[in-house]
Amino acid sequence: MNELKVYNPATGDLLAQLAMDSTELIETKLKAGHDALTVWRKTSAYERSALLTKWAALIVANKAEIAKIMTEENGKPLKESLGEVDYAVSYLTWYAEEAKRIYGRTIPASSTNKRLIVTRQGLGLVAAITPWNFPAAMMTRKAGPALAAGCTFIVKPAEDTPLTMIRLVELAHEAGIPKDVLQCVIGYGHEVGPVFTTSPYVRKITFTGSTPVGKRLISESAATVKHMSMELGGHAPFIICEDADIDYVIGQAMASKFRNAGQTCVCANRFIVHQSVLAEFSEKFAKAARALKMGNGMDEATDIGPLINQKGFDKVVFQIEDAKAKGATVLAGGNTFADHDKGTYFVEPTVLSNVTLDMNIMSEETFGPIAPIIAYENLEDAVAIANGTPFGLAAYFFTDNYKRGIYLQDQLDFGIIGWNDGLPSAAQVPFGGFKESGLGREGGIEGIEPYLETKYLSIGQL
Ligand code: SIN
Repeated sequence: MNELKVYNPATGDLLAQLAMDSTELIETKLKAGHDALTVWRKTSAYERSALLTKWAALIVANKAEIAKIMTEENGKPLKESLGEVDYAVSYLTWYAEEAKRIYGRTIPASSTNKRLIVTRQGLGLVAAITPWNFPAAMMTRKAGPALAAGCTFIVKPAEDTPLTMIRLVELAHEAGIPKDVLQCVIGYGHEVGPVFTTSPYVRKITFTGSTPVGKRLISESAATVKHMSMELGGHAPFIICEDADIDYVIGQAMASKFRNAGQTCVCANRFIVHQSVLAEFSEKFAKAARALKMGNGMDEATDIGPLINQKGFDKVVFQIEDAKAKGATVLAGGNTFADHDKGTYFVEPTVLSNVTLDMNIMSEETFGPIAPIIAYENLEDAVAIANGTPFGLAAYFFTDNYKRGIYLQDQLDFGIIGWNDGLPSAAQVPFGGFKESGLGREGGIEGIEPYLETKYLSIGQL
């Protein structure tokens, strides 16, 4: 039997050996998920709402245990894992309410003997592929609206972090969500992905992960014309204007850049700083980065955990070396620590100045704790740098000047904008990107739409 080994990225300890699902078993689960629609569609919105609420309550009751599992398999500091459990729960409680607000409409007919009615219904079985960087929240952000809408749901967690997900699914079943309505699949993405994308039972694929994998899932799904929601890569600009309050900006920049060791899709990836505040920002930011404590996330004092695996580490090391070779100056950090025997990979919070656009870090998503700083003089140049990427997920800017702020809001081609805000994510708002950062939105009222079909009914002969 094929087994998936799950390791602690901070210590290299083996955490679990899981049986992987065979293709036949995945196909059986997909059929069961499809068949379960007959039962699930008959539940009322209020019943689905109550089940989501109960699931959320069970997660809250088991918060400490789930956070520990998350830190052990993902490496993020325990305080961040505790925060992520709350964040995950917020999607369930939000969509427990939204389940009751799926409305249709009636449309005036052009004759009196007709009634024209539009109803909405869950679109069927949804197959989700979720990432390792937010093992709980990225699952509930998809499962919450899908179940609320009346869809059944099957999820494949990332190979690095399946344990949090397994616990969440157990709690969902304990809450009373039927086993075939919410299922989990263990396996490698490149093996499970094609089973999902080619299955006639799956009506929708929802994925959070890299842009290349997202493109592959979209093209593989074309033959069965599936609905797609894609939350893909980002390369967030973080623009600091000349009037910004630099001490405030530092706090926001630290949270945006170094949360989860820089391993989020919305992490600030390029600091674009007005020439007049460059020296002050660079000095204060480097000082704050140097003060972060790197280590095992289970240690209360830890701010920065390990990178998830060697692949992520190699990319970050390449970006640091490439930047240095092309003239960047290391203002903080810069050291990397790989223990290949144990399989642990740490990178110091690093701040780079004298950065130029030809450096790899200015075009490729980093997914690590590296902050490159580039200067600008005219706001138009800052916008051109910010928009000069195929990505369009999150962008940040800092100014108290409303004209500048509105100009930037208008000009930036990004789905999420933080104006004086480095952490804009929340359950009640739409999360998603322009361009190659994705398709569709998760969260907020927008987040349930992609799980609904529209059905039009014409009643004649009245
Ligand atoms: C992500 O990195 O994909 C999600 C981050 C967030 O929800 O803030």
